[in-house]
Amino acid sequence: MTAAADIILPRDLPLWHDARPYLDVRNNDEHTIVAYGLARALIAQTPGADESVVLPAVLLHDVGWKMIPQELLLLAIGRRPSRPDLVRDHEVHGVRIAREILERHRPKGVDIEAVLDIIDGHDTVKEAKSLNDAVMKDADKGWRTTPHGMRTIAGWYGVPVSEVLHMLRERSNALMLTPAGKALAEGNTAAVAAEQQVAAYLGHGPEFPDFPDAEDVTW
Ligand SMILES: [Fe+2]
Ligand SMILES: [Fe+2]
Repeated sequence: MTAAADIILPRDLPLWHDARPYLDVRNNDEHTIVAYGLARALIAQTPGADESVVLPAVLLHDVGWKMIPQELLLLAIGRRPSRPDLVRDHEVHGVRIAREILERHRPKGVDIEAVLDIIDGHDTVKEAKSLNDAVMKDADKGWRTTPHGMRTIAGWYGVPVSEVLHMLRERSNALMLTPAGKALAEGNTAAVAAEQQVAAYLGHGPEFPDFPDAEDVTW
């Protein structure tokens, strides 16, 4: 069993605890954990990226969604969003809430203004204002290409994985900014798309379509 501290750095755990009550909408809590893990991998592959800016920003970037009426959340995103204005709203709320959390804890070695600067505009501004911003955006958008991200998005909209793959190829993957992020997104998308063709080549689907429950596994 992997302890929570193995993913989230001890420095960031107090931020996580304060962020959690704001992340319990639209799977943002799950998204945040996976994006944080992804960010650590991208930082390791990206010389010059500063984890003390990127990781707290990933942890707090979506706290603002909690302020948006829940029934409107899925209208703000997706292939044809009818309320894109709410995306900007969640950034503005997010900067305010993240500032409260960061100033309450003042984590050692963390430049609070630098963290808030990349939370602001993380979705509405497609270009990166810095390398740290690029890595943070890539962890956020790269999440969509992970097994967890694809399952979650398919679940929100009740669509097959082929629809999610289409959205990634048509729209989302083009937003990736760093070499590591692009490789991650293209690799994940290609691998899942190829898996969808297993039945066409073999006459049967993958032998193991789902992960077994961790508790049942003994090595
Ligand atoms: Fe966001
Ligand atoms: Fe996000």
